[in-house]
Amino acid sequence: MIRTVDWTEEGVVMLDQRKLPREELYPVFKTHEEVAQAIRQMVVRGAPAIGVAAAFGIALGVRNSKAASLEVLDRDFDSISSVICASRPTAINLFWAADQMKECYTRLRVSGVSRADIPGGLIEKAKALREADIAANRRMGMFGAELIQSEARILTHCNAGELATAGYGTALGVVYAAAEQGKNVSVYADETRPFLQGARLTAWELQRNGIPLTLITDNMAGHFMKAGRIDYVIVGADRIAANGDAANKIGTYGLAVLAREHRIPFFVVAPVSTLDLSLKDGDQIPIEERSGEEVTHLNGVAVAPAGVRVANPAFDVTPHRFISAIITDRGVAREPFVESLAVLIDRG
Ligand code: MRU
Repeated sequence: MIRTVDWTEEGVVMLDQRKLPREELYPVFKTHEEVAQAIRQMVVRGAPAIGVAAAFGIALGVRNSKAASLEVLDRDFDSISSVICASRPTAINLFWAADQMKECYTRLRVSGVSRADIPGGLIEKAKALREADIAANRRMGMFGAELIQSEARILTHCNAGELATAGYGTALGVVYAAAEQGKNVSVYADETRPFLQGARLTAWELQRNGIPLTLITDNMAGHFMKAGRIDYVIVGADRIAANGDAANKIGTYGLAVLAREHRIPFFVVAPVSTLDLSLKDGDQIPIEERSGEEVTHLNGVAVAPAGVRVANPAFDVTPHRFISAIITDRGVAREPFVESLAVLIDRG
């Protein structure tokens, strides 16, 4: 399994996903500021992987803190956490992981753990979150694979695989689980402009894992659906509101509308840590706007005239009415999502 995020005494090690598929490099990030920047610049990306990186980043910041007293460490913890949380706004997993680390810190403080032992407790917690993410992905894989027939041709968007998580993946976890069950599955991967997560990352990891795949550009999806060559659309999510509206990589909404027109099941696969039941619907999900250069340039080469006005929202929101099912680590939710998602949360 690829180690997207790992801990060493030197700092947080992350596979630099900006360099794939040309180079497989694992730089070390030695401060929490460096980890925050790595998240912002998409060295690591994908909602669950961002959450795990955030947890390790917070543990790293506390490990590096010079605070001599616990009172000063309390203040350091909050400022470290806010630096990490300012890195990217849409994936709720980032904030969920920061909350988990805060709970752990508070528990350590209340139980009277010494100043010297607090960093170790936080590092153990971050490692536990990473292992829990892999286990959650395997459960989602099992639930999802039950919904998939053999010979299925699955269209996916962006990268919701090993690389987007601590391991195994969400949407691609369903593909891996179906393949492990002996089902013949193949994938159509959207290239996913502008950052090309599909072409660079999904194609790379599916090839490594021996899953048959066809890479297409984003504007080909409708054509292949109409031609009867797609049986399921399966994607991940960055944040899901209480009514089931789901934010995911820009372009997902268009695929959901196309899937409905062609009567193709549209599945969203995400752990319950991606649910944000504090939001009534998807209109309230903050959408990250990224640099226009991601649109005007490809590999550092301009493909548009200098000075052109650009929009670059990194995510869109798919209204729940287009979603056939939300596959979580606690089971499968269907309409009415407002009820089925609440039941899954209570199950925890
Ligand atoms: O901008 P990215 O690459 O972080 O966006 C990633 C996605 O949109 C994924 O589909 C989502 O985070 C789910 S990953 C399991």
